[in-house]
Amino acid sequence: MVCLGNICRSPVAEGVLRHRLTEAGIDHVHVDSAGTSGWHNGEHPDRRSSLNAKQNGVDISKQISRKFMIDDFENFDIIYVMDQSNYRDVTTLAASETHLRKVRLLLNEINPGSNMPVPDPYYGGEEGFQNVFELIDRACLRIVERISKNEL
Ligand code: 4NP
Repeated sequence: MVCLGNICRSPVAEGVLRHRLTEAGIDHVHVDSAGTSGWHNGEHPDRRSSLNAKQNGVDISKQISRKFMIDDFENFDIIYVMDQSNYRDVTTLAASETHLRKVRLLLNEINPGSNMPVPDPYYGGEEGFQNVFELIDRACLRIVERISKNEL
C-alpha cells in the first residue's frame, strides 16, 4: 500500500487489509506500506489517522513510515497506490513490464477502470479521515473476497 507520506492513507490501508484478512482467516498474505516521498521516515502514522482507525476498530499506531524502494517490486506481487501522483512516482521506478503490471490504483478494486483517487486528507478536516477509512475498507473487503476466490 503506497501513498505520498506513508502517515495518513497507506498506513490505514495496511492496517485495514491486515485486519480484514485476519477476520477472513487468511494468514498467507504479507501486507506492508510505504511512501513515495520518504518525508516522514521513522514516524508513526498521523495521529488523526491513528485515532480514526482506532474508532473504526483498527490499531495502526505502531506502524512506522518508510520510503518506497525498488526492492518492493521484487518483494511484493501487487503494489496498490492511492492516487495518480503515487502511480506516476512508483511506475517511474519500474525496471520492467512485470514490475509495471504490479502497480494498481486501490479504488479500481471497487470502481474498475475509473482511476479514482483515495483523497489526501492531510490538509483537511476530521471528516476527510472517515471518508478515507470507508473507501479503503470497501476496497480491502473486495481484495479479501478476490483472494478467497483465487482471483488475486
Ligand atoms: P499521505 O498524506 O500521503 O496519505 O501519508 C500526506 C502526509 C504528509 C504530507 C502530504 C500528504 N506532507 O506534505 O508532509
